[in-house]
Amino acid sequence: MREVRVRAPGKVNVQLSVGPTGQDGFHPLATVFQAVNLYETVTATLRDDDQISLTVSAIPALEHAVDAVPLDESNLAWRAAQTVRDQYGLTAGVDLHIHKGVPVAGGMAGGSADAAAALVACARLWDSGATRSELHEMAATLGSDVPFSLQGHTAVGIGRGTELSPAMTRGEYFWVFALQEDGLSTPAVFGEFDRLAAQGAAEVASPQLDPAIMQALSLGDAVALGKALTNDLQEAALSLQPRIQYALDAMHEAGALGAIVSGSGPTVAGLARSRQHALSIGAHLDRVNAAAVTIAAAGPVTGAVILDE
Ligand code: C5P
Repeated sequence: MREVRVRAPGKVNVQLSVGPTGQDGFHPLATVFQAVNLYETVTATLRDDDQISLTVSAIPALEHAVDAVPLDESNLAWRAAQTVRDQYGLTAGVDLHIHKGVPVAGGMAGGSADAAAALVACARLWDSGATRSELHEMAATLGSDVPFSLQGHTAVGIGRGTELSPAMTRGEYFWVFALQEDGLSTPAVFGEFDRLAAQGAAEVASPQLDPAIMQALSLGDAVALGKALTNDLQEAALSLQPRIQYALDAMHEAGALGAIVSGSGPTVAGLARSRQHALSIGAHLDRVNAAAVTIAAAGPVTGAVILDE
C-alpha cells in the first residue's frame, strides 16, 4: 500500500504587530515566527477511488481536543489535498490520518501545520512533481500561517504573514505552553482587535518589526528576547477569554523570562532559561490551576519534512 508520512511544526510568534484592516479584509502584519518541536504528523495513504477521507488522533495531552477537529471539507488538511488535485488536474483519492501534537484552536498554527503536512504528503503520494515554490503558493491560498509551517526555523512574515524571509537567529529557546480549556477562533480575535481599536483614542499604527527582537534572536539572548516579546492581539484574546491572565501571571511568578499570548491565543507561551526551567514553570502553573494542560517545547526547528514513504 502506497503511503507517505510527513510532519510539520507548530509555532509561536515572538512578535506580532498588527495594522488596521486592509481593503482585502485582512490585517497587515509584521511578525516573527519561531517553529517549535510540537508537531502534526499526517499520513497519506493512496485509495483506489477518488475519495478523500480523514481521521484524527493525538498525543495524550491533547486527546481531550480531538473531537473539536472537523473531519470534512472544512479541515485544512482536506482542503490541502483538494488544492493539490485542482492544481495538477488529478483525480486520485487519499486517506489522511492526522496525529496531533500542536494545541487545537490555540494560536499555534496546528491546523496550518496539518495543511502544510498534507500538501507535502499528497504532492509526493500522487507524484505531482510540485516544486518548493509551487508548494509555497498553494500554502498561501490555504491560510496565513501555512507557508511558515512549510518552511519552519525562524522567519519574519509580512503582509498576511505569508511573505517570509529567514531571520538571523542563534541558539535554542525553551518554552512552556499553557493551554486553555476552550479555543479561540482567529477571525473572532481579529474582530475583537477591531472593536477595541474603534473604542480607543489612538489610531492603529502600521505594523513594525521591533529591532530589539531581531537583535535578541541574532545574539541568542533569551533574557533580552523575554523582555521584548510583544503581541498586538493579546488584549483582544484577553478580552474574549479573561482567564488567560492567570496563566500570564503564573508564568511571571515562576520566573519566566517573558510570557505572551501565542498568535491569536488562547495558548500562553512562557520563555524559560532551560528545558528544566520550562518544566518547573509548567509544574507551578499546574499547581495553581492556571492552565488546562501545560507542555514544554523548544525551538527553532525545521519545517515540513517527509518522515517515510
Ligand atoms: O489566513 P487565516 O485562515 O489564518 O485567517 C483566518 C481569518 O483571520 C481571516 O479570514 C481574517 O478574518 C483574519 N486574519 C486577518 N488578518 C490576517 C490574518 C488573518 O484579519 N493577517
